[in-house]
Amino acid sequence: MRGWTKSGWRAKPRVQMPDYPDQAALAAVEAKLSKYPPLVFAGEARRLTRALGEAAEGRAFLLQGGDCAESFAEFTADTLRDTFRVLLQMAVVLTFGAKVPVIKVGRMAGQFAKPRSSPTEVIGGIELPAYRGDIINGFDFTPEARTPDPRRMLQAYTQAAASLNLLRAFSTGGFADIHRVHAWTLGFAEGEKAARYRALSDRISDALDFMSAAGVNASTSHALATVDFYTSHEALLLEYEEALCRIDSTTGLPVAGSGHMIWIGDRTRQPDGAHVEFCRGVQNPIGLKCGPTLTGEELKVLIERLNPENVPGRLTLITRFGAGQAADHLPRLIRAVREMGARVVWVCDPMHGNTVKSASGYKTRPFEAVLREVREVFAVHAAEGTIAGGVHFEMTGKDVTECTGGVHAVTDENLSDRYHTACDPRLNASQALELAFLVAEELTRRRHGLAAQAV
Ligand code: PEP
Ligand code: CO
Repeated sequence: MRGWTKSGWRAKPRVQMPDYPDQAALAAVEAKLSKYPPLVFAGEARRLTRALGEAAEGRAFLLQGGDCAESFAEFTADTLRDTFRVLLQMAVVLTFGAKVPVIKVGRMAGQFAKPRSSPTEVIGGIELPAYRGDIINGFDFTPEARTPDPRRMLQAYTQAAASLNLLRAFSTGGFADIHRVHAWTLGFAEGEKAARYRALSDRISDALDFMSAAGVNASTSHALATVDFYTSHEALLLEYEEALCRIDSTTGLPVAGSGHMIWIGDRTRQPDGAHVEFCRGVQNPIGLKCGPTLTGEELKVLIERLNPENVPGRLTLITRFGAGQAADHLPRLIRAVREMGARVVWVCDPMHGNTVKSASGYKTRPFEAVLREVREVFAVHAAEGTIAGGVHFEMTGKDVTECTGGVHAVTDENLSDRYHTACDPRLNASQALELAFLVAEELTRRRHGLAAQAV
């Protein structure tokens, strides 16, 4: 990329980034991190780009999900395993619905930095800097915790490295065997309340039994025994991203070493801003959050900047409007993409436009609104002749009570029971899997619709 350097973002206007009071400590951390090994290999990022290129054409489907914000306190093998397990369960269900490979990307092993709607928080008349994620400052409401501390980047790097190590082991070491994964899902669908999902899960069982009888099982087929799993996070803290940026020895091109895919948030997508400047120069697949304020003209400038060569899979547009809003906002973005002839992956994030304050005072997201946005976005794509290429969820494998609804009906009154998120409310394991079933039903309908059109 001509005229690009990994520190070029420093000359651009920046938003949502901390001002570190201790500049010497910051420089020391950056120097240290820039000598550490990258967390991912450029070849993996390229492979993900190719896979996403298939999603752009409807020959694959992206499932991206995980915490809103990973936290240092919740860092355990169990937390990672549980989220990974639900993502795999969802992927099997979605594969069955879509009849194409599902690309699995975690908001994991690096999702530590958060944009905030207000730079400060006021509690009981005391004003302190807002919490910006564990890589930047602490959650506790004290001046010490809320002061940005660059040493937190080293802890985030260590946590990301250990997380990725375990995820890689889970992916290939037997944990991800499709039969095991499906057995967990059967447990869910056998529950009385989830009975409506039993038919679909029985059909998956039949398909697996048939393949087994035909001699295709985990010991004969690598594809049934292992998964490709990728990591992603918002590239918000650019000092960290720059320090982990490397030149790929195979191509001589820069790569973000912090994760396979990085995305630009809805609040940091200024075309002339620091975040777009950093992301345009690295070869990783890039996500761009597209909220209700994005205009078609702005999107065109962003596409030109982020994917000038129009490489399929390089750019994923993650739309997040809110239930009831897709018909107002998505068509103008689709028009802009079409006018440019741009090849993009369209992904629906039905979380970030559906955050509400519950009567009990908790930030929550109603399951119904999340599902509705997915359905509406799919309908707009179907009407426009574009392809809904994936979904993006905030979710966890734990049995939290942060979003309302679902078959186990979390209510407003339940929210306080197990409300653990460090930031936005997440779907719990049951809600996430249920949503996968419902999206799989949509995908099945879509396939049948397409088949009907084709004849
Ligand atoms: C997020 O994905 O956690 C987030 C902050 O999203 P957005 O930039 O779309 O608001
Ligand atoms: Co969030």
